[in-house]
Amino acid sequence: MELNEVLTLVNKRVRDLNQYHLEPRETRIKLNQNENPSDWPASIKEEIAEFCRTRPWNLYPNFVPDRVKERLSEYTGVSSDGIIVGNGSNEMLLVILLALMDAHSQVIICQPTFTIYRLLVNGMGGTEAIVRLKADMNFDVEDICSAVRAKPQSLLILCSPNNPTGSTLSEESLRSILEAHTGFLILDQAYVEFGGFNAVPLLRNIRTLSLHAHFRRQWPERACGLDTCSGRRKLSVK
Ligand SMILES: Cc1ncc(COP(=O)(O)O)c(C=O)c1O
Repeated sequence: MELNEVLTLVNKRVRDLNQYHLEPRETRIKLNQNENPSDWPASIKEEIAEFCRTRPWNLYPNFVPDRVKERLSEYTGVSSDGIIVGNGSNEMLLVILLALMDAHSQVIICQPTFTIYRLLVNGMGGTEAIVRLKADMNFDVEDICSAVRAKPQSLLILCSPNNPTGSTLSEESLRSILEAHTGFLILDQAYVEFGGFNAVPLLRNIRTLSLHAHFRRQWPERACGLDTCSGRRKLSVK
């Protein structure tokens, strides 16, 4: 079989996606991939290396990382059974979208925003209803509210602070959106330590899931590439 023929066997929705592209950049402080600007202390690296060396390599790690979840629970104030730990928030997004999307779902997304939302939604056969940011790059809260009212029970994805614009949603704006919205909200707060407010307390709502990618920065000594999704227990644990 020729390569082109083999490629026709790949899901067309995936073939139609544009490649996710990232320019390599040399900068003093590199934040565009949500990395910690400071390297880890050598002592911590050694401790981790030692831990890995003494673990059995023939076995999977614990199926549920209870100790990590307990610590995350102390840190976030979310009960540990409402926390899912994953391998990066892209994985968390994938899992959530698998659970919440049908092939023809229309997902409400602001633009410009983190490209992965659109790629995943399109790859799963959904389409995006776009709400554009205002000319000054702020969220258009009225337009978001109109969009969710026009599509009751739809899935809404918001990113605050937004990648790539840094726009943030105020608590008041988020409250208005939650009042208007009857579907699920995924709020990506990967960059919340850089601005905006931490919406976790506000999101103790049955239909909201909050994504965090901050443990690499906040706890560089404790976690690497560890991201969480928190929500109400009945939603996130089954
Ligand atoms: C807004 C936003 N969410 C999520 C991610 C994904 O992060 P992770 O590396 O944890 O998958 C990124 C990475 O750039 C991001 O900018």
